[in-house]
Amino acid sequence: MEVDAPPVTTIREWRSCLDAAELARSDGFYFDADRITYIGAHWLLRNALAATGGLPPSQWRFVTGRHGKPQIDAALGRSDLCFNLSHSKGLVACAVATGVAIGIDVELISSTRAEFDIASRYFGVDEIALLRSKPPDEQSQTFFRLWTLKEALIKATGEGLHRALDSFSFSLDPTAVTFRSGDVEQAGAWVFFEYRPTLRHAMAVAMRLSTAQPVRLSILRIHPLDGSVASQ
Ligand SMILES: CC(C)(COP(=O)(O)OP(=O)(O)OC[C@H]1O[C@@H](n2cnc3c(N)ncnc32)[C@H](O)[C@@H]1OP(=O)(O)O)[C@@H](O)C(=O)NCCC(=O)NCCS
Repeated sequence: MEVDAPPVTTIREWRSCLDAAELARSDGFYFDADRITYIGAHWLLRNALAATGGLPPSQWRFVTGRHGKPQIDAALGRSDLCFNLSHSKGLVACAVATGVAIGIDVELISSTRAEFDIASRYFGVDEIALLRSKPPDEQSQTFFRLWTLKEALIKATGEGLHRALDSFSFSLDPTAVTFRSGDVEQAGAWVFFEYRPTLRHAMAVAMRLSTAQPVRLSILRIHPLDGSVASQ
């Protein structure tokens, strides 16, 4: 869902389904744009859960996992539902899945010229080589594909930055992950999905399957003003 400068009435409506903790966090943002993005993201999450899980948006309650990953409060009896949330400038996204660990990341694609500095700090050697192999006009896009995939994976496991970002490596076209030897993760159990929600944004979803199973994925774009839903 795009969240560029919604009217005050829309922000008020989004706020109305948030709980006290979310409202307190939203009040702590210094910049209006960050506050609005946060409120929009949590409204989106609550509505996505309501559409999937049968409770009204305001009744979902959350607990925080070991490394900070929010999860549904087990007392609601919907522990089978997994979700993840991501915000970037101008766009918020959430992913909801049943019985599958899931992570999502969205990033604003910008040509900062810092791609190689960041990549050399955080990426695996194969990823840096892949980035260097691309012509200059494809490097930003390749960088953000790798970045969103890496973030989506560490968000699916819930480890966040507790997992070293060079402990696994992505190849592209086709998208696949390799884990450093000795790592307990099973590369074959992962499914990835990449999408460009706008011309300015990159998005990746990572899912860890417990068994080989077919995956059906729906992408829905939510209109920020009237909440209408369009299938992509
Ligand atoms: C917190 C982190 C998991 C994602 O942060 P991020 O990419 O800056 O932010 P996103 O908007 O994509 O995700 C934030 C949301 O993830 C969720 N989240 C928080 N901790 C999480 C965790 N351990 N696992 C999964 N999801 C988590 C929360 O819902 C959070 O939103 P909220 O605070 O509004 O509830 C972590 O990976 C991080 O800080 N990354 C920094 C980015 C970076 O340096 N990347 C290096 C290049 S690859």
